[in-house]
Amino acid sequence: MPERHLEPQALCASSELQEGGDAVTFEVMEFGRPAPAFAVRFDNVAVAYLNRCAHVPAEMDWQPGKFWDQDRRFIICSVHGALYDPGSGRCVSGPCPGARLHAIRLKEEGGQVHWYPSDRLQPLS
Ligand code: FES
Repeated sequence: MPERHLEPQALCASSELQEGGDAVTFEVMEFGRPAPAFAVRFDNVAVAYLNRCAHVPAEMDWQPGKFWDQDRRFIICSVHGALYDPGSGRCVSGPCPGARLHAIRLKEEGGQVHWYPSDRLQPLS
């Protein structure tokens, strides 16, 4: 059985996540396959999600790291324009209302951001 990692994994420095700024992108293993993910800061809280739209399983940033709508209030999917609440990952407008992005749990402490692996998401080996 492959080794499971459940310890928090280093993601980035807190200073790399600016309110309404570009995302920090990273990769995880989802059920053993690489999957893109991203972290942003909203309302001074660092949040992270798989970079996979809940409408069609596509990456959402047409330009790498650009996930904000014009007002920097919602995460937007560049494919068909779904808007997601950054705090909950819930789609609030567009083709998949109520559907959710897959959230990745973060810990921010001492100027560093870490993400928590799960049974589903593991660090790259
Ligand atoms: S793929 Fe994201 S809104 Fe359709």
